[in-house]
Amino acid sequence: MSWQSYNQALIRYPQYGFSLDLSLMEIDPAHTVALSPRIAKAFADMEAVESGAIANPDEGRMVGHYWLRNAALAPTEALRNAVTEPIAALKEFAEKVHTGAISNPAGGNFQQVLLIGIGGSALGPQLVSEAIGQNARLPLYFFDNTDPAGIDTVIAKLTKIGLDKTLILVISKSGGTAETRNGMLEAKAAYESAGLDFGRHAAAVTGIGSKLDQYAAQHQFLARFPMEDWVGGRTSVLSTVGLVPAALQGLDIDAMLAGAAAMDVETRNQDVSNNAAMQLALAWHSATNGKGEKDMVVLPYKDSLVLFSKYLQQLVMESLGKARDLDGQVVNQGIAVYGNKGSTDQHAYVQQLRDGVNNFFVTFIEVRKGRAGHSIEVDPGTTTADYLQGFFRGTRKALHESGRKSLTLSIPEVTPFHLGLLIALFERTVSFYASLVNINAYHQPGVEAGKKAAGAFLETLNKVRGHLSANAKSAGDIATVTGADPEDVYHCLTHLSANGEVQIFLGTCPAEDKFLI
Ligand code: PA5
Repeated sequence: MSWQSYNQALIRYPQYGFSLDLSLMEIDPAHTVALSPRIAKAFADMEAVESGAIANPDEGRMVGHYWLRNAALAPTEALRNAVTEPIAALKEFAEKVHTGAISNPAGGNFQQVLLIGIGGSALGPQLVSEAIGQNARLPLYFFDNTDPAGIDTVIAKLTKIGLDKTLILVISKSGGTAETRNGMLEAKAAYESAGLDFGRHAAAVTGIGSKLDQYAAQHQFLARFPMEDWVGGRTSVLSTVGLVPAALQGLDIDAMLAGAAAMDVETRNQDVSNNAAMQLALAWHSATNGKGEKDMVVLPYKDSLVLFSKYLQQLVMESLGKARDLDGQVVNQGIAVYGNKGSTDQHAYVQQLRDGVNNFFVTFIEVRKGRAGHSIEVDPGTTTADYLQGFFRGTRKALHESGRKSLTLSIPEVTPFHLGLLIALFERTVSFYASLVNINAYHQPGVEAGKKAAGAFLETLNKVRGHLSANAKSAGDIATVTGADPEDVYHCLTHLSANGEVQIFLGTCPAEDKFLI
């Protein structure tokens, strides 16, 4: 660790107060030289993506999230309009909701928003809300699961101000995701039992013509915003998916887009040494041997960025976690991502990071400004911000001293602009890294497989329901008549028992347990 290596391994974009310090990653310059042909290909791939190539071959789709903050890049006028027109429409919608020009059927203003979505249709809005939504004009709540108890908890919170004053925002690109559909139906039931017309309190963000789009039209939703098929869920935070809730919160969406556009300009630069996204991709490659051999621990030293690791977990793991490369070879790629925030995590798993298994590298995020306004002295001459900085710098050094690698991203404060800057940095890093390891970062066959597997279980559950009776039966009895797997049947039966649909009589093992209505 030397002053000289810090100076050499630092990339700065001083006009944005941004820097990336790679000095503790110990990247062998020969590593970058060896990857030169792949780096050149990654830049070429990126140019192709940005000019509208079918960069997601499995789904036959363009990958257009880079156009969202610079519509001029989109290859056709129709695509440029598909970026700019929804932004104008959603700003107008948010303005009308704020002023009361769009109100509930009783003429009252909306005072809070319930966002119903999952995965890419929730994580980006959650990140934005947590990072910069502290003084939101309309506070945001989420249904991001099909857990009835979780739904009840959120409904109870919303009821304090009133469901009639709650604007529902249903977000689903495909418009057919079960968790989101279920959340919407649960919300609708709550509105109906309060005597409220659900549609007149709701708006949707979804693909044109999707099931949700049709439902929203039928139920006379207040507004519908399009979600384009060339924007992936995990890169949709700067599309209508992220911008509608951000605008409703009264956040500066132009600044978010400007931050992302600024980082795009810097990281489109083919001077590798000054390209933060390419340097980050190379750092990931060097740390993980290009095979995900080390995990990425994300540690922002700022409470408002606590969801950044969760957001990155999806962006990185859903993009890079792939079985096959683009040539069809089995590669089982990916980089595991986890984290939370510093210094809090120093009192949890950082013990293992320092002294335990060395199977990770850390991405520190430093936010230089402690708070706006006056700070008290917690020790003579010392503030809480001084402590936060001390803990961050100390941990970085301690990890280095025990042979653990880390990199540090620094921003001056968590503003809409700087959040956009960070989002764009990681989006492009993922694109570059995917090219370096030759995988499709833009599809998610595993997510689709999970959706299908749930369908199969529900089918078995319904078959089991059809064979329940007042005579006690075992899982094996029902499996024999339904042709289903006895273990699946057993789990259906215990689920039905826990939810009051059947009674269970325990035997000495699951095969001997009996169930009856
Ligand atoms: O990134 C992705 O593609 C997924 O995580 C999706 O966002 C998630 O499955 C939700 O899909 P949808 O927006 O179609 O409801």
